[in-house]
Formats: sequence, structure tokens, C-alpha cells
Amino acid sequence: MEFGWLEITVAAIVISLILGVIFTRGSSWIEPRFWKNIAIVTSLVMVVFLLILTFDTLASIKMGNGRVPEATVINKKISYVYDEQKRWYVPKVSGEEPLFGKIWSEEEALALINKGKMTIQSKACMDCHTLLGNGGYYAPDLTKAWLDPKWNLLIKDMVGANSKEEAMAKWIQHPDQYPTFQRKMPDLGITDEEAKAIVAYLKWMSAIDTNGFPDNFKADEQ
Ligand code: HEC
Repeated sequence: MEFGWLEITVAAIVISLILGVIFTRGSSWIEPRFWKNIAIVTSLVMVVFLLILTFDTLASIKMGNGRVPEATVINKKISYVYDEQKRWYVPKVSGEEPLFGKIWSEEEALALINKGKMTIQSKACMDCHTLLGNGGYYAPDLTKAWLDPKWNLLIKDMVGANSKEEAMAKWIQHPDQYPTFQRKMPDLGITDEEAKAIVAYLKWMSAIDTNGFPDNFKADEQ
């Protein structure tokens, strides 16, 4: 059986009630002692539940565990498919798809993704963008940016690139030269190496199952 938020909430309330009844035996509901005990029992039960949920979350957001893919997912084709049961889009990882013309070893892929993350942090991309929903609302969310159809449909020709990753890397380096929206992204002085790392990071991130976030995202159909 799968435990969702409803089962967990009901379990927490039922356990609080049972323990509450046990620990308040003999005292009437009109006495302050009754409510003091109820408050202590409920708080303790909730603390235990929160700890369990925290460890459960920490385990499932680790790389290679459940929703978050291994670093080597950058060597794979990532697509976005509608899951009828869940009623949202989920990333689908299939077949080999080299990134920047090569298959990256686990160590290399991890180093590249980490560099991408550090660059994104040091350039404060989140001042304007959201990543996994965190950040500024000035520019598009970047969680699924890798799956944006525009790289193949529009940007590839615009920047004169042969592949999606090259198109993205070139665009990120000089976005002010190739604007696509009314708002322009400034040139942030990103080097070739940094751009590659950012693209790898964004490709890896697009394979995270985010329960369909961001909503209404239209992915590349190919
Ligand atoms: C000053 C605000 C600002 C900052 C800082 C910024 N961006 Fe942007 N970014 C924008 C705007 C505005 C757009 C939309 C521009 C367009 O599509 O022409 C954009 C678009 C993008 C896109 C295309 C998204 C899509 O799918 O349409 C990517 C990828 C991107 N930015 C990456 C980055 C990265 C990586 C950084 C940090 C190194 C960064 N941005 C920093 C404003 C910003």
C-alpha cells in the first residue's frame, strides 16, 4: 500500500487521539491538566511524524534514488510523457544520446553537473529565474528548460548550431544577441566551459520527476 498525505495525516490524528486518551485517563476534560497532556502528546506525535517524513524525503531526493536521476542521465535521451494514472507529465529516460558529442563517465558527469550548479549559483540566475520553483519570477522557470521545443525549432538555426545542447550553450552565452521574448536576458559573461556545464545541469534537472511542475509546460514532442 502506498502512503500518501491523507493516510499519513489520518494516522497522525488517530495515534494522537489514542495516546491522548491513554495519557489523560482519570482526568476530566474540564481540568487544565487534561488539555496540557493532550497538547504534549499531540506535539510529540507530530515531531515523530515530521522526523520520519524528513528522513523519507532526504532519501528520495538523493541522486539516483527514485525521483532524482543519476548524473549519467546526461548521456540519455530525456522526453516528457503524460501519465494517465497520475494525470501529469513525467520524464522518460531512454536510449543513449551523447551530450556535446560524448558519453560522460559517472565521475565526469558528476563534476560537470556540479560545475553547472556552481555557475548557476555564482551568476545568481535565480535572481530572475526559478529552478524547481525557487527563485525570481522575472524570467521562465528553468526546471524543464532542456525539454523546451524552442531549442530545436528556433534557436538552433538562430545561433547556427548543429545540436540542441550547442544551441542552448551558445544562446546562454549571448542571450542579448538572440532575444526571443520581449524581455531580454543580459549577457552574463559565461565562458564556453561554464555554458556546457549549465546545459548539462539543466539536462539532468529536466529528468527529475517534479509531479508535473511547472504546470502547463509544453515539452519537445520529438
Ligand atoms: C536579469 C535577469 C536574468 C538573469 C540574471 C538570468 N536570466 Fe536567463 N532569462 C532571462 C529572461 C528575461 C529570459 C527570456 C528571454 C528570452 O527568451 O529571450 C531568460 C531565458 C533563459 C533561458 C531560456 C529558457 C526557456 O526555456 O525559454 C535559459 C536556459 C536561461 N535564461 C538560463 C539562465 C542562466 C543559466 C542564468 C544564469 C547564468 C540566467 N538565465 C540568468 C533573464 C535572466
